[in-house]
Amino acid sequence: MGIDYARYDRIRAVQWRDDHLRLLDQRRLPFEEAWLDCADADAVAQAIRDLAVRGAPAIGIAAAWGVVLAARRGADLAAALATLRAARPTAVNLMWALDRMKARIAAGADAAALAAEAQAIQDEDLAANRRMGALGAALIAPGSGVLTHCNTGSLATAGFGTALGVIRAGVAAGRIAQVYAGETRPWQQGARLTMWELVRDGIPARLIADAAAAHLMKTGAVQWVIVGADRIAANGDTANKIGTYQLAIAARHHGVKFMVVAPSSTVDMATPHGGAIEIELRDPAELLATAGRRTVVEGAEAWNPVFDVTPAGLIDALVTERGVIERPDAASMRARFG
Ligand code: MRU
Repeated sequence: MGIDYARYDRIRAVQWRDDHLRLLDQRRLPFEEAWLDCADADAVAQAIRDLAVRGAPAIGIAAAWGVVLAARRGADLAAALATLRAARPTAVNLMWALDRMKARIAAGADAAALAAEAQAIQDEDLAANRRMGALGAALIAPGSGVLTHCNTGSLATAGFGTALGVIRAGVAAGRIAQVYAGETRPWQQGARLTMWELVRDGIPARLIADAAAAHLMKTGAVQWVIVGADRIAANGDTANKIGTYQLAIAARHHGVKFMVVAPSSTVDMATPHGGAIEIELRDPAELLATAGRRTVVEGAEAWNPVFDVTPAGLIDALVTERGVIERPDAASMRARFG
């Protein structure tokens, strides 16, 4: 199955530029394509915290380059590792990438060797995405409709995407005829980012309000829900963007299949189950305003967890670059990931 990557893989949101890291500022998309130049590890950590760069694999890659910046500047590497690690708590790709960099530092790597490691992390992610695209698309019957959530595309990864990579590969192969994307309140990753990627690629896509998902499934228009992941526990429980769990529940109720697509760097065998995953709580102000404009009465309070955990029992297929696991559980996860 040949995919036209020149059409379906054109965005590079995380770019190393000789002496600094250049990030496509995802807070300003889709109407402004502004680039943020990070000259040190603190600037990278800030960009991760503020969601200028976001998506589990992309924050891991950016953090790895943050370590390179620290090494090039002769900064305290232990401090840089700690600052980057603390930037966000849920996506394990961040800790995984920093652990890889830490191991190279412990082995005596200089700045050039650390840059080679960061580049390897980035290159391996792109290769994993292309492999997962082929594996996931093969599960989808020709002419299907799919629903996705958040943004899992080139913006969230080294390129091509995880769930969005499967969607791209599925569209290219004629297996997916229609894509639906949930808005993903409050930060609108689906509306602002996923729709931007899909429209650029000429993929037939419709935005839905998050609240329209169960109704959409009831109409029979979608056969698969396809999402990414921020951390997959040893029993297959999967943390992903808030709202994913309710999609999985609605999918099972309506006989719609549920697919999680993530590189093995998202699998955390040291976390036994979803209950042990830290869920990031962000500023309630993100819910009380839209695009910087207050929409809720002064004095109102809000609760803003930005991830949730889908129990493994609601997942029909887990796709990683190491293959497909149907109905993942502790035994099948152990067999695949050790
Ligand atoms: O808060 P975000 O935008 O970083 O959350 C991103 C998600 O939840 C994605 O679904 C996940 O990181 C997978 S991206 C390939």
